[in-house]
Amino acid sequence: MPLTPFTGFGPGKAILLGEHAVVYGYPALAGPLSRGVTARAFPSKRCQLSIPPSIRGERRRLLATAFEKAAQATGRPLVRVEVESDLPLSMGLGSSAALAVACARVLLAAARRPASCKQVARVADEMEREFHGTPSGVDHTTSAQGRLIFFRRRGKTDQVKPVECPRPLKLLVALVGERGPTKQTVAALRARRDQWPSRYGRLFDEVGALAAEGVKAIERGDLAALGDAMNVNHGLLSALQLSSEGLDVMVHRLRRLGALGAKLTGAGGDGGAVLGLFLEPEPAVARLSREGVRCFVSQLAGPREL
Ligand code: MEV
Repeated sequence: MPLTPFTGFGPGKAILLGEHAVVYGYPALAGPLSRGVTARAFPSKRCQLSIPPSIRGERRRLLATAFEKAAQATGRPLVRVEVESDLPLSMGLGSSAALAVACARVLLAAARRPASCKQVARVADEMEREFHGTPSGVDHTTSAQGRLIFFRRRGKTDQVKPVECPRPLKLLVALVGERGPTKQTVAALRARRDQWPSRYGRLFDEVGALAAEGVKAIERGDLAALGDAMNVNHGLLSALQLSSEGLDVMVHRLRRLGALGAKLTGAGGDGGAVLGLFLEPEPAVARLSREGVRCFVSQLAGPREL
């Protein structure tokens, strides 16, 4: 066992296009955020997760059960895992998937097992199923891949295609407020879809088409076209009853500040985060921060300044 601990990072994710429809097999476009969860594994007599005493009750039980699944999947290496996060929780930015990926990485490393993106995603999937029930897999696959991807749920062989952008693709991420569990938002949408399948099917078809168009726009560096697809996607998410007053107000605010496109990201519902696609997001971040809005910049893809 090395003296220095094993360290693994799981980035949070931003879904640019296609959330919710992705659960039903439609494509989505998502990339990693600069913020995420870091896990460190120290030698120990048993395989365990250190859960801070401040985390209690149902949340504590869920974390322990989810970690147990990852431990089982990696042969229970003798380590104690500590985690640290700079990603806001319950905001639709993939904090549970980032935690799952960070834990998967350190457990695989401690077990001296191969840790390709696929293997990391497989172990992380065990944890995500505890957190979310039937996740599409887009959150932990994006985190494990650590790059912008086109994702389509296909059971055992999900379609995962890296997407290259010839220009910097920069987002402003604005936090609107904590939201309820993803599991509940996804279940409520499923109930509406089951009641009115053809109406909801038409909306999902359109969301899926936007994700496919978004990939083409990114590959040719057409950020205006990507922004427009994001705007239309937000409208469809509203039609699916996944937006809220707070999210809509922030979407309009970011557009007024010059965003090429703005939309809610992740599960949505009564809170969460809004993405604004900007050529230069820094002035808008400075302005919103002065006004007390919690926000940050993240570059999702494209060439980076040295
Ligand atoms: C949550 O980040 C994304 C959803 O599409 C759920 C999922 O894909 O499992 C809402």
